[in-house]
Amino acid sequence: MIPTTPIERVPASPSGVVADWLVAGVWEGEKPPADLDAATGGLLSWLNTAGDLTGKPLELVPLLKPAGLTAQRLMLVGLGKRAEATRLRFHEAGAAAARAVTGKAVATLAAAAPGAGGGLNAADALHAFAVGMTQGFVGPGLRKATPARYAPGRFVLALPADCGFNPAPVVFAVHAAARGMWLARALVNTPPADLDPERFADIAVEHAATVGVEAEVWDEHRLEAERMGALLAVARGSDRPPRLVILRYVGTPGVPAIALVGKGVTFDSGGLSLKTSEQMVDMKCDMAGAAAVLGGIRAAAELKLPVNLLGVLALVENMPSGKAMKLGDVLTTRLGKTIEVLNSDAEGRLILADALAYAAEQKPVAMVDFATLTGACMIALGPHVSGLMTNNDPWGDRVLAAAGRAGERAWKLPMDAHYDEMIRSKVADMRNTGGSRYGGAITAAKLLQQFVGDVPWVHLDIAGPAWADNESAASDTGGTGCMVRTIVELARGGVT
Ligand code: BES
Ligand code: MN
Ligand code: ZN
Repeated sequence: MIPTTPIERVPASPSGVVADWLVAGVWEGEKPPADLDAATGGLLSWLNTAGDLTGKPLELVPLLKPAGLTAQRLMLVGLGKRAEATRLRFHEAGAAAARAVTGKAVATLAAAAPGAGGGLNAADALHAFAVGMTQGFVGPGLRKATPARYAPGRFVLALPADCGFNPAPVVFAVHAAARGMWLARALVNTPPADLDPERFADIAVEHAATVGVEAEVWDEHRLEAERMGALLAVARGSDRPPRLVILRYVGTPGVPAIALVGKGVTFDSGGLSLKTSEQMVDMKCDMAGAAAVLGGIRAAAELKLPVNLLGVLALVENMPSGKAMKLGDVLTTRLGKTIEVLNSDAEGRLILADALAYAAEQKPVAMVDFATLTGACMIALGPHVSGLMTNNDPWGDRVLAAAGRAGERAWKLPMDAHYDEMIRSKVADMRNTGGSRYGGAITAAKLLQQFVGDVPWVHLDIAGPAWADNESAASDTGGTGCMVRTIVELARGGVT
């Protein structure tokens, strides 16, 4: 289900690497890479002087059968100005170049290290660039007779002995992050008929086992016994039973874990508050939060990061039927707090209420939930930025910093007490919508906050970044694997 492409270092200079395609970055306003320029007899300098090779961000210049190189083809990609480099810039450059060369089968794809830039040293720059490439060479269209994109047979990093850093840990980290992102994207891209809560739970158990993560699955009977009334109410309309997956990664025995909770609605029809076809068409993506948690924990465990992680995946299908939760119903949650249902399409906060309450009971040092929770968050921030809401600013700032280090974008939204009024109910402890369209991302977060107690908590609304409606230079359509890298960075940060 996810690519098996091996990733290896070869101790060769870029000009001497044997490959079908070699990808190399070019800085704007600087001479082209010296090794490749010398080997091609000054071809790159000539192109640079002629204005054909500027190094502007994401500029792509392919050279076929370049004399002097052992690679059959060279794709030069613009990195922009060195002083302005960021992880995101390296990632996107790698992704754009890899996308451009993997529309056909490639036996060996190679990358040259871009070198240090911005605040990043050479190792971190290569990591971001290479992870970007692994993002770019895998796409959707899994079931086309002729694939739209081919994962290469091998992916090699051309790193000579004098590359300036120890290559082995970088290569290993690239592979771990890639596997986590490939998994998350494949899950999001899988048609909803083929990925229901049970199947998702099976896949989670399978992947957990490969990296030494303990997995426990609660079925509908256990969920009943555990009083997860809000989660069960959402699941009731579907013929496919819900699951709660609990993942435990122990990298540092004896210290409290960071809890990561994911929204896993394998299909969101809206329930009785049925979505229109246009709104529903991509709702197989509504489990992207759970996919990010699984992919992120898989990567952190593979890297054996010195941290403990508790993953909680809340898996349901939201469907209309004779058994479906009705508007006006009042749900009793695991915590005992009651929620009046005003809209069955505001289901994510209901399943997360019970999942967060369970996670908080485990006494984690802090929590983060990941959820494609509201269209309102996309109205507020656009499709490429996640909304971050927290009950604890220092923890919120740490999560923001981790996202920044990972090259992912998030922006803090306010959580003042005055928003609490917006979810007040006449008949229950709270209602599941804000009653108007205003502040919809925040009113959703305010409901979640009722279930986290005093544990430092961050909610990331990933409704925009989890899914790409259109392709762009650096991204295919469909699942993006968003937040897998942020989880790895967060885990790297440790427990304190
Ligand atoms: N899964 C959706 C949110 C969503 C929308 C994700 C678009 C990705 C793209 C969520 O369950 C939902 O339907 N939210 C409603 C809430 C409303 C009924 C209060 C929304 O945003 O319209
Ligand atoms: Mn919904
Ligand atoms: Zn939803």
